[in-house]
Amino acid sequence: MKSKASAPGKVILFGEHFVVYGVKAILCSINKRVTVTAEKTTDKKIFINSEIDNLILEPNKLISEINSPLKPFYYLANKVIKNQNTGIQIKIDSEIPLGVGLGSSSACCVAGAAAIFKLFGDISKEEILELAIEAERTIFENTSGADCTVCVYGGIMEYDKKQGFKKIEDEPNFQLVIANSNIEHSTESMVSEVKAFTIKNKEEFSKLLEQELELVEDVLKLLKENNAIKLGEKINQNQKYLETIGISNNQLRKMIEIGQKTSFGAKITGSGGGGCIFAITDESNLEYTLKEFKDNNFECFSVEIDFKGLNTF
Ligand code: PMV
Repeated sequence: MKSKASAPGKVILFGEHFVVYGVKAILCSINKRVTVTAEKTTDKKIFINSEIDNLILEPNKLISEINSPLKPFYYLANKVIKNQNTGIQIKIDSEIPLGVGLGSSSACCVAGAAAIFKLFGDISKEEILELAIEAERTIFENTSGADCTVCVYGGIMEYDKKQGFKKIEDEPNFQLVIANSNIEHSTESMVSEVKAFTIKNKEEFSKLLEQELELVEDVLKLLKENNAIKLGEKINQNQKYLETIGISNNQLRKMIEIGQKTSFGAKITGSGGGGCIFAITDESNLEYTLKEFKDNNFECFSVEIDFKGLNTF
C-alpha cells in the first residue's frame, strides 16, 4: 500500500524579522507543492529518494549522525517504525525551489509526516502539524512553527509569538510574481545580523517596531477590501523597514526596483540576504512584471494563494 500527501510552500507577506520581536507577521501558502509518497518495505531499512540526495539507512541511528538535508524524513520514518517489523521507502517530488525562503523544508516536513504516518492509521491535521514541527527542528532548532502551520491549513494567516496563528478568512485574488536571487541564505545568520542591528540602534529599532505594528494592522483591513493597489503601497513601505534593518543587498535591490516599477509593490520575502522577493500584481500587470524580470535575466514565476493546505490521497 502506498500513502501520498502534498503540501504547499509559503510566502511571508509582511512582518519577517519584526515577528521575532513580537510584531504580527502575515503569511500565505502558495500553489507550488511538495509531494511525498511513502510505502512499507519488507527490508527493515529507511530508503529516502529525492532529486537532491538518496539515503539508505538502518533505523535507530542518532539524528545528529545524519548529515543530509533529508534528515527530517529519517526522523519521521524512524519514529513511526519503532517496534514495527517493517522498513519504509519515501519518495519526494518538489516544485518549490530550495533554500530561498519559500518554505520547501516546512512543506517537506508536513507532507512527509502525513504520508509516513498515514501508512500506519488515521492521524489528525493537528497531530501531523506537531510531528512536522518536531521534524523541522532537526534542521532548524528555533523554528517558530509558523511555516508548518500555514502549510497544513493553507490560505492566509497572521502569526505572533505569543498568540500563535490565526487564520484570516478573506480570500483576496491577487497574484504574486516571485523572483529568485538564487543566492542561498541562512535564516539563522540573518536573524543574528538583525539582532546586532537592534543592539546598536535601540531607539531606531523600537520606532521601527511601532511602525511595523501599525502597518500590519492596516494590512489586515486592506485584505478584506481585496485592494491590491493599497496593499502594494504597504508592501513598499515594509520593504523600506527591511532595508533599514540591513537584510537587503544590491542584487535584491535591483529586483525590487523592477518589481516596484512594474507591479503594485514589491519586497523581500523571508530572512533576506538572498532568497526571493515578490511583487503583487493582478491581470493588468502580471505579464508585464514577469517579462521585465525575465528580460533582466532574473528567474521568476507567478503564484496564487493556495487555499487548500495539506492534501492526502
Ligand atoms: O526562513 P525564512 O527565510 O522563510 O524567514 C524566516 C522569517 C524570520 O522572521 C526572519 C525568522 C523567524 O523565525 O520568524
